[in-house]
Amino acid sequence: MPIPANRLSRFRNWVSLSGMVLAFSALFAFVLLFGVDIYATHANPYMGILAYVVAPMFLLTGLAITMLGYVLETRRVRKGLAGDDSHLILHVNLARKRDRRMLVAFVGGSLGFLLLTALGSYQTYHMTETNSFCGETCHESMDPQYQAYKHSAHARVACVACHVGPGAGNYIRTKVSGVRQLYHTILGDFNRPIQLHNVDHRPAQETCQSCHWSQKHTGDLQKTYKHFLTDETNTPFTVAMILKVGGSDPVMGPVEGIHSHMNVANKIEFIATDDARLNIPWVRVTDPNGKVTEYRTEEFKDDISKHPIRSMDCMDCHNRPSHKYLTPNAAVDRSLAFGRLDPSVPWIKKNVVKALVQTYATREEANQKIEASLRADYPDDERIDALVTEAIAIYTNNFFPEMKADWRAHPDHIGHKDTPGCFRCHDGLHFASDGETSIKGSDCNACHIIVAQGSGEELQKVTPGGVTFFHIDSEFEEPICSECHTGETQEE
Ligand code: HEC
Ligand code: HEC
Ligand code: HEC
Ligand code: HEC
Ligand code: HEC
Ligand code: HEC
Repeated sequence: MPIPANRLSRFRNWVSLSGMVLAFSALFAFVLLFGVDIYATHANPYMGILAYVVAPMFLLTGLAITMLGYVLETRRVRKGLAGDDSHLILHVNLARKRDRRMLVAFVGGSLGFLLLTALGSYQTYHMTETNSFCGETCHESMDPQYQAYKHSAHARVACVACHVGPGAGNYIRTKVSGVRQLYHTILGDFNRPIQLHNVDHRPAQETCQSCHWSQKHTGDLQKTYKHFLTDETNTPFTVAMILKVGGSDPVMGPVEGIHSHMNVANKIEFIATDDARLNIPWVRVTDPNGKVTEYRTEEFKDDISKHPIRSMDCMDCHNRPSHKYLTPNAAVDRSLAFGRLDPSVPWIKKNVVKALVQTYATREEANQKIEASLRADYPDDERIDALVTEAIAIYTNNFFPEMKADWRAHPDHIGHKDTPGCFRCHDGLHFASDGETSIKGSDCNACHIIVAQGSGEELQKVTPGGVTFFHIDSEFEEPICSECHTGETQEE
């Protein structure tokens, strides 16, 4: 219903005017946020909340206040308090000193408010860009990732650098995802654990490769893995090896080794039958000359057109570049190796791992029960306090019971000892169409050579040409390590 001209004048009151200023500021903030976001280097998922939820909320509030002023004014008119225009409060007469002051105050106030809105929205925008916003605001849901991130190689890299890529498609997608996240955070019904898999399907070219150069030739890396056996003396068992990381660009060096599948000279595609990509029954390689070879496991008989085909990228090996949860076996080994746990305490490896892997509902319960379990194991040992402190520290960094996040929920694909990792393809069980040739690089010396192993004197014998891995006391028949090694302790 159109409002007659004389009624329109009922908007001319201080309440309505303030409402209009608020509404206008909100509109201004919206335009500003939208502009900042469009020109930002990467889309920010929480900007959607600011621009499309918070700003409109202020706009609506402003409009509501405007209407309120109108209604109040109408009442005044009805009651005969305001008859003709001359009685309206807002009849500004510039000749009057009082009116001049009011006008200056109102215009000044409005401009100040507008400026504050601009500053405020820009500051809020900056805040949503920070890591503590991503990691701490949604405290419960993001805590496991934030804690692991804080002591990763990428602790100085912004969450948004990996999680939010550039481009218009990402823009819309992240807006929708930000609002969805807010909604689930408020309801508290987010998944536990949260699973993203490959950073929401964003390819490495847009994320990792904005900093890392896939053509880099790394060559050999020397790595030492220090373990302790599950026996009374916690016997050390070390493996020192040279990892043939190599490189993938013929210009930078020979195309060889682990980084030869970087999609520079050759292309590797695969089909995974589960979301975590643990099960890969089909692989296709296109070499630099365009020669195509397909490999599949004997059990996999499906028509490949029924499955999505994925190009292998950095995250198919480095899937935990910044949120790594150590297995209890590895975490306890690390504490023992660094001397934070004392290897002279009998059965310490076994007992700490045992205390860590029980099912606990909350962190509080875990801390209490881990302490109780260890105190029961070592009733008279004076080293018990330090032991309990370290066990709880391991738990704090690697286990998140409320979110059900730990190494089981987020398996690491690098290596092959505790998870299938490289053996998802390099298990010698994927064959080309001749039924005999399996994927190259599936023998023990293809990816690394072991130069020394064991403990004591044995470990001092370095063999540059490499030795055959000896497995504690027996030669194993089964190459699939993760069938026995699950991340907990192994007992014979
Ligand atoms: C160096 C890149 C990188 C940075 C920086 C990074 N992430 Fe991640 N994040 C990943 C990758 C890769 C995955 C997917 C893992 C997979 O495929 O299983 C992931 C997964 C996640 C997940 C899903 C659960 C999970 O653990 O798989 C959440 C939640 C998450 N990140 C939050 C964050 C937060 C919050 C920050 C900043 C404090 C952050 N990330 C910083 C790379 C990164
Ligand atoms: C914003 C830049 C940036 C992005 C994006 C980034 N990285 Fe990194 N990455 C770095 C820097 C810097 C280092 C070196 C850190 C150091 O050695 O202190 C590093 C180190 C690494 C390392 C060696 C880790 C180690 O333990 O020494 C790996 C592996 C790696 N990045 C993989 C990835 C993957 C996979 C992604 C994508 C999911 C990624 N990075 C995204 C900057 C980045
Ligand atoms: C086939 C699996 C695989 C793929 C694919 C892969 N990496 Fe690696 N990368 C490794 C392994 C294994 C190492 C050795 C370090 C280790 O074991 O932790 C390594 C080492 C590294 C290092 C540390 C050594 C160095 O050069 O400083 C960086 C950084 C790195 N990778 C980045 C990347 C990036 C970026 C991509 C994608 C362009 C990528 N990797 C793809 C398996 C892979
Ligand atoms: C998705 C399947 C897949 C995964 C997972 C995978 N690879 Fe590969 N890898 C291949 C294919 C396919 C080739 C090329 C083999 C060929 O040309 O026959 C290859 C080649 C290699 C080669 C070069 C072999 C040679 O002699 O030319 C090395 C080394 C290697 N991979 C190491 C690794 C490591 C280390 C990991 C785990 C961190 C890994 N791969 C994970 C599929 C995979
Ligand atoms: C496709 C490549 C590849 C093949 C084939 C391979 N490995 Fe490995 N292996 C790796 C990588 C990569 C790592 C390092 C993982 C890491 O940095 O965490 C590793 C680590 C190891 C370790 C040290 C693990 C630890 O945590 O102590 C041992 C031992 C080992 N490999 C033995 C073997 C044996 C035995 C075979 C043959 C049955 C074999 N590997 C075949 C890639 C391979
Ligand atoms: C048949 C089961 C089985 C298979 C398969 C197996 N292991 Fe083991 N592994 C054991 C047992 C049992 C121990 C002794 C554990 C202990 O005393 O803590 C052990 C110990 C180890 C250790 C030293 C202690 C530790 O917990 O880290 C390493 C390293 C190791 N294995 C690597 C491998 C690798 C690499 C493979 C695959 C190439 C593999 N194992 C395959 C059963 C197995």
